[in-house]
Amino acid sequence: MKVTVIGAGNVGATVAQILANKELANDIYMVDIDEGIAKGKALDMYESMPILQSDARIHGTNDYAETAGSHIVIMTAGLARKPGMSRDDLLVKNAAIVSSCVSQAVKYSPDAYFIVVSNPLDVMTYVTLQVTGLPKHKVIGMAGILDTARYRSFISMATGYSMRDIQALLLGGHGDTMVPLPRYTTVAGIPVTELLSKEKIDEIVNRAINGGIEIVNFLKTGSAYYAPGTAAVEMAEAIIKDQKRILPCTVLLDGEYGIGDVCVGVPIKIGKDGIEEIIQLKLTSDEQAMFTKSAEHVKATIKQAMELISNQ
Ligand code: LAC
Repeated sequence: MKVTVIGAGNVGATVAQILANKELANDIYMVDIDEGIAKGKALDMYESMPILQSDARIHGTNDYAETAGSHIVIMTAGLARKPGMSRDDLLVKNAAIVSSCVSQAVKYSPDAYFIVVSNPLDVMTYVTLQVTGLPKHKVIGMAGILDTARYRSFISMATGYSMRDIQALLLGGHGDTMVPLPRYTTVAGIPVTELLSKEKIDEIVNRAINGGIEIVNFLKTGSAYYAPGTAAVEMAEAIIKDQKRILPCTVLLDGEYGIGDVCVGVPIKIGKDGIEEIIQLKLTSDEQAMFTKSAEHVKATIKQAMELISNQ
């Protein structure tokens, strides 16, 4: 098993270290335009393996040829937000970075599954699909796991119940229009609506929607990476171990939920064949309206991104 992580920044390094710690791959290649950063961080991680009791080998490089034959490519490179920026503000620079990186990676790993983490996430997932020409079951964006992890953490904080017992689901784009679904949120099977007041749930939903910017405002120089990195590894693990998990991920919709030609978050079954099923929930008309609005917002941003790329 060989996994490539594009980008040796905070998210990429977190992904590589967790993959190695969990021994999910024999060889992990971290690629970055800054060769020294990639090599330095990779060697530092390699040297932690005796302590972690893992035989994963971590390599740093700026040469995509070394990544040839990867089973999974995790795309993390790109600029991160600073205070006052929305994820969409990253569009121009990150569309260029993502299209350049994934086109080089797919040349050497034409059979790989691509997990996209760069922002604006839904749009970059679409860009990756277009640029690589891969079939739609092989390109999956990471956002829903992060957004639900935030939401689940806040429910644990509010109830005092274990993180382990909190299940939640969420739809839509990774941005202000995301659609958390309290109706599908339980603590050990108990609907969250029986445990918390509507006001408290609304407050938690709101904090989850703004979870990314909450971290950006603390860090000031960048965005979150521990939770995003951990979430990307959960997707890779589901593919590597053929776990058939149901996880909220960003995928290309082709008529599901009455929506087409847009990448947006929905629950999927994820296993060795990547996206093995798109699960269609029976939404209320309010939920469907919020979801459609979110998809339309993403679609408009995709249009801008594709224009930028075709003018390059
Ligand atoms: C966040 C960024 C990474 O939600 O999108 O933290």
